[in-house]
Amino acid sequence: MYICLCRAVTDRDIRRAVDEGARSFAQLQERTGCSTCCGCCSADARACLDEALEQTAAPAFPAVLWASA
Ligand code: FES
Repeated sequence: MYICLCRAVTDRDIRRAVDEGARSFAQLQERTGCSTCCGCCSADARACLDEALEQTAAPAFPAVLWASA
């Protein structure tokens, strides 16, 4: 889904930017150009970035599996 129409940035592009190391909105803007024109997408882009960051921070396995191993 397109998040930023001005720069043709999709939610996948945002997730990819996070996978490649973007950790802030400024870094996302540098990598994708998202929200660097009219700015109308800013709220949606930040929400998508936050969601991608949360998924990146989540452990690959539930902690309980590590505790019982
Ligand atoms: S829609 Fe993203 S900068 Fe315009």
